[in-house]
Amino acid sequence: MRKTNLCSLLLVLLLAACSTTTKKENTTDTSPFKNRPQWVQEAFKTFEGHADNMLVDVLKTGKTPRSTERGLKPSRDWTSGFYPGSLWYLYEYTGNQEWAKKAQQATELLDKEQYNTDDHDVGFRVYCSYGNGWLLTNNEQYKKVIIQAAKSLCTRYNKKTKTIMSWNPNEKRDWKYPVIIDNMMNLELIYEAYKLSGDESFKDIALEHANQTMKYHYRKDYSCPHVVDYDPETGNFRKMDWNNGFCDPKVAAWSRGQSWGLYGFTLMFRETKDPKYLDFAEHIASFLLNNPNMPKDYIPFWDYASPKNPSMRDASAAAIMASGFLELSQYSQNNKEKYFQVAESILKTLSSSDYLAQVGTNKNFAIKHTTGNYMGGSEVNGSLSYGDYYYVEAMVRYLKLINNQPLYQ
Ligand code: GLY
Repeated sequence: MRKTNLCSLLLVLLLAACSTTTKKENTTDTSPFKNRPQWVQEAFKTFEGHADNMLVDVLKTGKTPRSTERGLKPSRDWTSGFYPGSLWYLYEYTGNQEWAKKAQQATELLDKEQYNTDDHDVGFRVYCSYGNGWLLTNNEQYKKVIIQAAKSLCTRYNKKTKTIMSWNPNEKRDWKYPVIIDNMMNLELIYEAYKLSGDESFKDIALEHANQTMKYHYRKDYSCPHVVDYDPETGNFRKMDWNNGFCDPKVAAWSRGQSWGLYGFTLMFRETKDPKYLDFAEHIASFLLNNPNMPKDYIPFWDYASPKNPSMRDASAAAIMASGFLELSQYSQNNKEKYFQVAESILKTLSSSDYLAQVGTNKNFAIKHTTGNYMGGSEVNGSLSYGDYYYVEAMVRYLKLINNQPLYQ
C-alpha cells in the first residue's frame, strides 16, 4: 500500500474510533448535568459506592440505615426516610433507571409510616422518601401516600397552641405540648399535600405553625433552643427547654437546630412568597455567619454556645446548612453570592477525605464527624443517615445552580 493511502486509512480508522467513543459517552451519560466539576464527580462516585454497598443490608433486613453507632432500624425510626431519599438523589444525578429501581425498593419499605401519628417525624420519614420519589416520577400512588402522611401529621395540630406537637407529653421533663425546631422541616410535606389535594386546612396549619415558631421559639438574636413547651388548654407558651444541644435552654444554640430553622423558613418562603419568611431566614443566616464560634470552614461545632467540648463538630448541621443556603441564595437580594460561596465551601470540605469516607469503610455511611446528641452521649463523632442525605441533596442543588437549572419547577 502506498504511504499516502496508508495514512488516509489510519486517519479514517482514528476518526471512526473517536466517533464510536463519543457516541458511547453520549449514550451512557444520562445525567441531566452537563457541567460536573471533577471534585463533584469523584464525590458522587464515592457516594454511589456507599449507597450500593448499603443496599445489600437494606434488602436483606427490610430496615434502613440510621447511623454508624446504631446501624439499621425499622421504618418507625425517625431516620427511615433518609436513605431512600438519598437514592432518589442518585437517580436525579445520574438519570439512571437502576437508581430509580433501587430508590423505589427502599422507599416502599416505609409504606405503613403514612399512618404513623406517634410523633411529628412522619414528615421526615415520608417526605424524604415518597416526596422525592413523587417529584421525580409522578407516581400516583406516592401522591396518595404524601396526602395520607400529611393527614397523620396534622392530627397532632392543636387550635389553641396553633402548632403541631412534635413529641408526646412527658411528665418527667414537665412537657405538656413539646414542639421542637426540627418540626419546621415537616411543613414541606404539609405544603406538598396542600398543593396536591387543594385542601386549604393543610396550608393554614403550616402557616400557623411557622408563625408561632417565629414568635415563641426564637430569641432576639435569631438563635433558638431545641424545645418549646406550650399549654394545650390555654395555648400559652410555657417554657424553652432542651433535649438536644447544650443543656441550658437560655443560651443553647444547637447547631443542627439552627440549620433546621434556616432551611425551614427558607422553604416557607418558597411555598408562600411571603417576605416575612425570607427576612426571618436571612436573620438566622446572619446569626450563623457572624457567629464568633463558627469555624472558618463553616463545619459547625455541635452547639454554637456550648462551653462543653466546644471543639466537637457536627457535619450533619453543615450539610443541612449548605442545602438551605443554596436555596436561600436564589431568593436573597443582597447576599446571593455569600450564601452560594459558603455552601460551595462546605460541600468542598465535606467532599474531602477528612469528611467523606472511602468506599468499603465506615459501615457504608458517607459523611464522617457528625454528632447525634452530644449531651445525651449518643451517636457522637460518627456518621448519620441525615448527614449523608442533606449532603447529597445539597450536591444535587449545587449542580442545578451551576447548570442554570431551577431548584424547583
Ligand atoms: N430531628 C432530630 C435531630 O435532628 O436530632
